[in-house]
Amino acid sequence: MNSTYEAPRRLIKTPDEIEKMRVAGRLAAEVLDMIKPHIKAGVSTLELDQICHDYIVNVQNAIPACLGYGAAPGRAAFQHSICTSVNHVVCHGIPSENKKLKNGDILNIDVTVIKDGYHGDTNMMYVVGGETSILANRLCKVAQEALYRGIATVKPGAYVGDIGAVIQKYVESERFSVVREYCGHGIGLTFHDEPQILHYGQKDTGMRLETGMTFTIEPMVNVGVWQTKTLGDKWTVVTKDHKLSAQYEHTLLVTDTGVEILTPRPEEDLSRFGQ
Ligand code: MF3
Ligand code: CO
Ligand code: CO
Repeated sequence: MNSTYEAPRRLIKTPDEIEKMRVAGRLAAEVLDMIKPHIKAGVSTLELDQICHDYIVNVQNAIPACLGYGAAPGRAAFQHSICTSVNHVVCHGIPSENKKLKNGDILNIDVTVIKDGYHGDTNMMYVVGGETSILANRLCKVAQEALYRGIATVKPGAYVGDIGAVIQKYVESERFSVVREYCGHGIGLTFHDEPQILHYGQKDTGMRLETGMTFTIEPMVNVGVWQTKTLGDKWTVVTKDHKLSAQYEHTLLVTDTGVEILTPRPEEDLSRFGQ
C-alpha cells in the first residue's frame, strides 16, 4: 500500500507566478492590518466589510475573491468581500448590519484578494476592546501556534499529512479540538485548488511537498467538540455545541530551504521562520 503521491506538475509555480503570489499575499495581509483600528464595540461586521471592500477595490486596485464566490445548487454566491466569524462561528460568517461587536468578542476576519489573476488568502483573530476571558485568549493563542507548528513542517520532501499530524497533536494536547470538515488548500490562479491540507491526520501520508508549491494552512480550533453545523443561510458555520472557535490562516510557498510565508503582517513575529 502506498499512501503517498507526487504533486501534479501544474501545482509547481514558475518564478514569475511566485512573484505575483507574493504581491497578492502582501495585499491580503495589509487588509488585516488596515482594518485593526476600526474593530471596536458598536461597529457592525457589515461596516468592516464595506471598509475592506473599498480598500481592496479603490486603494489596492485588486479584486475581493469572496464577493460572488461559491454559488452551488441550493446556495447563492457569497455576497460580501470578507468573512467575519464571531465567537462560536467557525468560518464563513456573513457580514451583517445586525451583528454589532461587543467588548470581549473574538472575531476572525478572512480576506482573499486577487491581483494580476493570483490569490492571496489569510485570516486572523481580533479581541474586541482588547480584553476577553482567559479561555478565549488561550484559544486564540493555540490556534495561532497550531498554524505556526504546521508551517514549521513545510519543506521539500515533507508530506501534506505531516502538517495535519503536528497540528492535531498540538491542539489536542491543549485539550481543544480541530475542525474536520474544512481544510487548507492549494492556491494560485485558482482560489481552492489541490491539495487539500487537512489539519488532522497521519504523518508520512498524502502528497509530497515540492519547491514552488503554494497552499494555505488554516486550522480552526474549538473549545468543545470538533463537529460543526451550517446555518439556514447555507454559509455560516458554527460549532455544534455553540462553544468558542478560533482560526488563523497564511498562504505559503515551499522553498528549497523550507517555507516562505506569503501573507506576513508587519506586527507579526516570524523570526522562527527566518522572516
Ligand atoms: N477565505 C476562505 C478560505 O480560507 C474561503 C471563503 S469563501 C467565501 O478558504 F465565499 F465564504 F468567502
Ligand atoms: Co481564507
Ligand atoms: Co483559505
